[in-house]
Amino acid sequence: MNILVIGSGGREHAIIKKLKESKKVSKIYAAPGNGGISKDAECVNIGACDIEKMTSFCVDNNIDFAVVAPDDPLVLGMVDALNQKGIKTFGPNKAAATLEGSKVFSKDLMKKYGIPTAEYEVFDNPENAIAYLKTKNSYPIVIKADGLALGKGVIIAESFDEAESAVISIMKDKQFGESGNNIVIEEFLTGPEVSVLSFTDGKTIIPMVSSMDHKRALDNDKGLNTGGMGTVAPNPHYTPEVAKVCMDTIFLPTVEAMNKEGRKFKGCIFFGLMITPKGPKVIEYNCRFGDPETQVVLPLLESDLLEIFEAVYNETLSECEVKFSENKSAACVVVASGGYPLSYEKGKVINGLDENGQSDKAIVYHAGTKFEDNQFKTNGGRVLGLTNVADTLQEALDKSYEAVHSISFDKMHYRKDIGKRALNK
Ligand code: AMP
Ligand code: GLY
Repeated sequence: MNILVIGSGGREHAIIKKLKESKKVSKIYAAPGNGGISKDAECVNIGACDIEKMTSFCVDNNIDFAVVAPDDPLVLGMVDALNQKGIKTFGPNKAAATLEGSKVFSKDLMKKYGIPTAEYEVFDNPENAIAYLKTKNSYPIVIKADGLALGKGVIIAESFDEAESAVISIMKDKQFGESGNNIVIEEFLTGPEVSVLSFTDGKTIIPMVSSMDHKRALDNDKGLNTGGMGTVAPNPHYTPEVAKVCMDTIFLPTVEAMNKEGRKFKGCIFFGLMITPKGPKVIEYNCRFGDPETQVVLPLLESDLLEIFEAVYNETLSECEVKFSENKSAACVVVASGGYPLSYEKGKVINGLDENGQSDKAIVYHAGTKFEDNQFKTNGGRVLGLTNVADTLQEALDKSYEAVHSISFDKMHYRKDIGKRALNK
């Protein structure tokens, strides 16, 4: 089969590497891909959100199956457009992608169907939001822009002043554009966070191995929120007991709720969970694989990924084998450009990779890289994800850090404490 993977990050590289293991795959294209992906797939210079060019490309090149990996093309309706042209896809249609595309929608869905989440109120004008903050007067409090905001739309305010300025910058100054027309103000929850990605065809839901992200830029969870600086899998906080509660109170009810709303979800639902003292609650839904969660989850998948994708499309997931390694752990350490998630330089030569952009010390998932003048160069904030699978988490982490120490580029930055919280559990 001819496959197209839409997107250009480490997540897409991990999907491509796993798809390459499938016997059914004859050719993989990536749009737009990146420097490292170009060694595993043919990169096509089409932007991930360019629906018109993407559908024409698929028709002209006999694409049998397209995987839409990032949130923005999903929310824009890329899947609907591809399906209209007869192209099979992995990923939710536009109506179902609203689960991530609108926080107001997802919070109202959870309230309506009794799915545990933080208490909240929705506001469509800043004056009412600020008046509410004054009556509530309890901190920290969490302020979320309704729409997509490149992972930056969540502000945890420690005081009234911080909360007020967040409301003003989102709603009045339009920091995130139209995404800030509405906001959610919600209760601050505490407890360990767990990422659970799942396959669902709208009838069956199969959770993947759990994982733990490290969102802040600096060690000890300091600094700004990023897309994710490293991950480990499985997540030790996600015990079999917690998993059962999540299945009964969150996963199945979510699939059912989406069906009842006429928004059947087919693809990957990513549950961002917090294990609070009152039990697991949903912090957020994503309508896609996580990045860098995918870089630790898919290396532990033992089944054929393309067969799973096809089963999701055909709504036959209940008949499909989805097996993850039961006694291995995976660790991914992200190396980033100095300054990320704010401003950073690009075009730095990356040392320590072989001619395929790989290393004998790790699986190297490329994120922000380009291949130019026969060299791999930095081309984004998160540059590489270095993953190892081993019998223990400690071993996987040690190997990934050894790999990190063999890579270098000007102003390279990484966290030195990935997995520490998981090891100390
Ligand atoms: P998100 O962009 O929705 O993933 O949120 C970013 C991060 O903000 C999450 O990973 C949590 O650490 C934190 N967060 C979001 N909502 C809450 C909440 N209600 N209580 C505590 N922390 C939260
Ligand atoms: N790593 C978090 C996300 O993909 O949204």
